[in-house]
Amino acid sequence: MIRTVYVSGAIFAAAIMMAACTHSAVEEEVVVAEPVAVAPELPTLYYAMTDIYQPEFQGVADTAFWAYDDDGNLDSSLLTDEQWATMKASAEVLRDTSRAFAAAEQIRVAEDGEELFNEGQGFIASEDVQAIIDAEPDGFKAMMTYLADEAERTLDAIEARDAEALSLSSDNLYAACKTCHTVYWYPGRR
Ligand code: HEC
Repeated sequence: MIRTVYVSGAIFAAAIMMAACTHSAVEEEVVVAEPVAVAPELPTLYYAMTDIYQPEFQGVADTAFWAYDDDGNLDSSLLTDEQWATMKASAEVLRDTSRAFAAAEQIRVAEDGEELFNEGQGFIASEDVQAIIDAEPDGFKAMMTYLADEAERTLDAIEARDAEALSLSSDNLYAACKTCHTVYWYPGRR
C-alpha cells in the first residue's frame, strides 16, 4: 500500500509541477492562505486534487511510514513531535476541504481548456468527469463526507499518538481516494 503511494507520488509530483505553471494568481493565493486551504470560493476539483489532496495525503501517509522500525513493527515513539504536527495539519486540511466539497452547491472539475492528468492516455477528459459528477452529485458528496470522517479518525489517532490506529487510518484514507477515483474518474477501469 505505502509502496504504491510512493510511486504515484513521484508521478503526481511531476503533474503538480506542470500544473503550477498554468495556475492563475488567484488560485495560488488559496494555497498560501490560512491553515484551512479552502477560501470562501471552492477551488476546482483538479486544483484541489493536485495541490491539496495529493500533498496533504502524503503529509499523513508518508510521515506515518516513519513509525515502522527496522523489523517492520509499528512504534509510535519513532515519530517526532514535528512529524505528529505535520500529520495533524495535513489531516485537518483533508477533513476541512472534503467537508467544503461535500457542502458545495456546485462542483467544478476544471477551468475551460485545462487538461487533467494523463488525459487522452486512457483517462477521460474533464468534461466527461464533470458529466459523471453532475449526474450523481450526492454520491460524490457522500464520498467526500466519508473522506472527511476518515480524516477525523486519523486526527483521533494522532491525538492519541496511536501508531496502529494511525497506520490503519492512513490505509483507509488511501482506500477512500481510490474508491472515488474508480467511480468518478475512470469508471469501468481499475
Ligand atoms: C469524492 C471523490 C474524490 C476523492 C475522495 C478523492 N478524489 Fe482525487 N480525483 C477525483 C476526480 C473526479 C479526479 C479526476 C478529475 C481531476 O483530475 O481533478 C481526481 C483526480 C486526482 C488526481 C489527479 C489530478 C490531475 O488530473 O492531475 C490526484 C493526484 C488525486 N485525485 C489525488 C487524490 C488523493 C490523494 C485523494 C485522497 C486523499 C483523493 N484524490 C480523493 C475525485 C476524488
